[in-house]
Amino acid sequence: KETIRIAIDGPSGAGKSTIARAVAEKLGYDYIDTGAMYRAVGYKMNQQGVSIEEEEKLKAMLEETEIDYRSGVIYLDGADVSSKIRTPEVSMAASACAASPAVRTKLVEEQRAIGHKTNVVMDGRDIGTNVFTDAQYKFFLTATAEERAHRRCRELQEKGQEVNFSDTLKDIEQRDYNDSHRALNPLCKAEDAIEVDSTHLTINETINKIYEYITN
Ligand code: C5P
Repeated sequence: KETIRIAIDGPSGAGKSTIARAVAEKLGYDYIDTGAMYRAVGYKMNQQGVSIEEEEKLKAMLEETEIDYRSGVIYLDGADVSSKIRTPEVSMAASACAASPAVRTKLVEEQRAIGHKTNVVMDGRDIGTNVFTDAQYKFFLTATAEERAHRRCRELQEKGQEVNFSDTLKDIEQRDYNDSHRALNPLCKAEDAIEVDSTHLTINETINKIYEYITN
């Protein structure tokens, strides 16, 4: 039986995971956060001191790496690393490792296997353009870099972390640049994706807009 695959792509901090999780819940589908998978790999590379230039070392590491995403929890080699991967260092490491063909091949293969097993809402950068080019629904969720930086600052503040707006904005702009300029599966809107600009929308408005596209 064919599964339903809903792709939600867009730049860092556009609210993809919040929106995708809520849409998945409303539909009764699984939510898959592919960014968390890249983060887990970036985290492990930092831990083991492996850089993307060291191709052989990286490949060897990947062969012994098990990434599992279940019910909102990301497992790296069996251990829950969900909170460890939400740091600025791991954000940068994830963005760097996402340029590696070896990393992408492994993670994309896993993402496809998941989406062919069960109905999913999957968020990332290349879901509509690469992982599931035949997804039944594709959305491209955006917001201005400033608005995304404000949201990220608020989020970190709520967790009690110290924040600096201009550093956060620079981080976001750097990741936008990395994500849209890499050679392999760069971030870009699929031709057949529906663009949703959330700059002036609340979370609920954004969720409803996407939900209505799917159910109408
Ligand atoms: O979405 P999130 O910020 O958690 O993703 C972390 C990093 O993983 C991004 O900066 C991006 O470079 C990479 N990524 C990717 N392809 C995806 C999802 C994430 O390249 N499908």
